[in-house]
Amino acid sequence: MKFAIIYTPFLEQHPYIIEKAEEYFESVLAVPMEGIRYEYVPGEKPRVMYKNTDLSDFDVVFPRLSGEDLLFCEQMMEILNESGTYVHMDSDSFSISSNKFSTVEELSGSEVKVPRSIYTLSTETAADAADDIGYPVTIKLISGYGGKGIMRAKNESELRPIIDTLEVFEQDICLQDFIENPGEDIRIIVIGEDTYSYKRVGLKEEWRSNISRGGNREEFDAPEWMRDMAVKASKLTGFDICGVDIISSEEEGYIVEINASPGISTETSEVVGVDIPEEMMAFVKQKALDMEVE
Ligand SMILES: Nc1ncnc2c1ncn2[C@@H]1O[C@H](COP(=O)(O)OP(=O)(O)OP(=O)(O)O)[C@@H](O)[C@H]1O
Ligand SMILES: [Mg+2]
Repeated sequence: MKFAIIYTPFLEQHPYIIEKAEEYFESVLAVPMEGIRYEYVPGEKPRVMYKNTDLSDFDVVFPRLSGEDLLFCEQMMEILNESGTYVHMDSDSFSISSNKFSTVEELSGSEVKVPRSIYTLSTETAADAADDIGYPVTIKLISGYGGKGIMRAKNESELRPIIDTLEVFEQDICLQDFIENPGEDIRIIVIGEDTYSYKRVGLKEEWRSNISRGGNREEFDAPEWMRDMAVKASKLTGFDICGVDIISSEEEGYIVEINASPGISTETSEVVGVDIPEEMMAFVKQKALDMEVE
């Protein structure tokens, strides 16, 4: 069976997953996103090509992509899904997960909870909406990542200068209810029906719990309701494999984000006590085998 990982950018973690893939697949190819092209030949099915290799002919393609070039990526998932190559997401899943507010939009009508959120272009509307949501509110940049681009206002006098600044930088305004929490959030890695959980705890005096802002991974055995919620959210957004971020206050959890390429680092495997890349490879291989039978 043939497996390809498509990545942008190259990360230190990738050799680890390639090594695991080699245990499960006869042929393993690592492909930088820049090398990908789509070919449309009249009368033939569209193809995803890398040099002289037709990736739409592979059993599994495992994308590890950052949220850039969304349309280009979406096209790739579409062609692969059509050609019978197993990919761990639907064609629109990547766009949904790449934009926090698309994620909120996708989940908000369901039984899975998301923080109350407002998306507007007007500073006046934003100030009124914040009153409605109730302070404190978070203000998020659509293009934010790694904890950068998220702010918090405790009252209107803190909010006004922030949204005025967003206007200067021509940024859309996204407000979200601030979910009280002890400076930590829960990451649940979903692989099919299986879930693996850990906690990210922010630095002292830091309410953002991102690892890239100095947060730490800690062991955490998520309760059943939280795991169910993560599996439901992944299904609603069309993922077989993803990372679901949950902020939890006592008995309630809110989903803030879905990650199409969750951590495959050794640190993640260590904290959950399971070899995550191994679980992923076993799962995608089984999926490809099931597809052959169908
Ligand atoms: N509504 C909220 N209420 C309370 N805290 C929040 C809320 N949204 C986010 N946070 C905190 O801020 C951190 C960063 O927020 P978020 O995950 O939305 O953006 P990001 O981490 O910058 O994006 P990415 O994970 O894509 O890099 C979260 O890990 C969480 O600790
Ligand atoms: Mg995050």
